[in-house]
Amino acid sequence: MKHFLKLGDLTPEEISELLALADQLKFEKKHGIAHPRLAGKTLGMIFQKSSTRTRVSFEVGMYQLGGAALFLSSRDLQIGRGEPVQDTARVLSRYLDGIMIRTFEQAEVEALAEYGSIPVINGLTDYCHPCQVLADLMTIREHKGTLKNRRLCFIGDGNNMANSLIVGGIKTGMSVSIGCPDGYKPDAAIMEWAAANGDFTCTSDIFAAAKGADVVYTDVWASMGQEGEAAKRAEAFAGYQVSAELMAQTNPGCMVLHCLPAHRGEEITDEVFEAHANEIFDEAENRLHAQKAVMVKLMEK
Ligand code: CP
Ligand code: NVA
Repeated sequence: MKHFLKLGDLTPEEISELLALADQLKFEKKHGIAHPRLAGKTLGMIFQKSSTRTRVSFEVGMYQLGGAALFLSSRDLQIGRGEPVQDTARVLSRYLDGIMIRTFEQAEVEALAEYGSIPVINGLTDYCHPCQVLADLMTIREHKGTLKNRRLCFIGDGNNMANSLIVGGIKTGMSVSIGCPDGYKPDAAIMEWAAANGDFTCTSDIFAAAKGADVVYTDVWASMGQEGEAAKRAEAFAGYQVSAELMAQTNPGCMVLHCLPAHRGEEITDEVFEAHANEIFDEAENRLHAQKAVMVKLMEK
């Protein structure tokens, strides 16, 4: 594994190794066992979009591993004034030991990896959010014991989260169902791959999608960069909500996850969110441990 660009690049064994390492690093942190495995190394973090969890968890994670992290806003970098990503990649490779990037186009992340000579980590694109889903899989395993044959249901927009959850879920042996409106389905190639490689369904009937679920997942109706479509989307997604009625379709003990930030009253009711807050904030915490595992795998030499 040279980079962490999308879950589709990883084998099931690589995902399982990352999850095991994340569990180990979490255990060590909880028991006060220092693990300075990246002492003296520096991660650059390029942000073209806002972030709370990704920024803080990568920066703190790098500190806990004995290294340092630089926050690089695209507003301040020359990349924001048109310096090509190919040149930025080659320059940053001379200073840093790894780059995390959050941006719009997946192609930009892939170009950074292609032209640079250091590991690149995808901290969210319009296409996918692999760091989040690694933390999600870790959280499901913590609460449910296993991933294999568990049923994961995603309700809402077929966005970056849906794309990564499909790939991560299928690669770890889960069955995956998506409940989303027509016109807002996940990536067509990902859905085709999922149907050929596992138990996958996509329907506009959210109650059918949630039937027998062990985990219900949702995300905002309008992602970063789609603010201008918010009104149109609010109309298209009306009713695509994780509510008590929806949860009545699921298996007993069904978890609820949300990558956050959440819009209560839109994709999820306040009641369901608060009833599952423990799981949702374990999930947020696990970003830290899962990403530390990714950084150790890529940057420890
Ligand atoms: N879930 C997530 O990536 O959160 P941030 O946008 O706050 O980083
Ligand atoms: N789909 C959301 C996820 C935020 C973590 C977005 O892209 O804005």
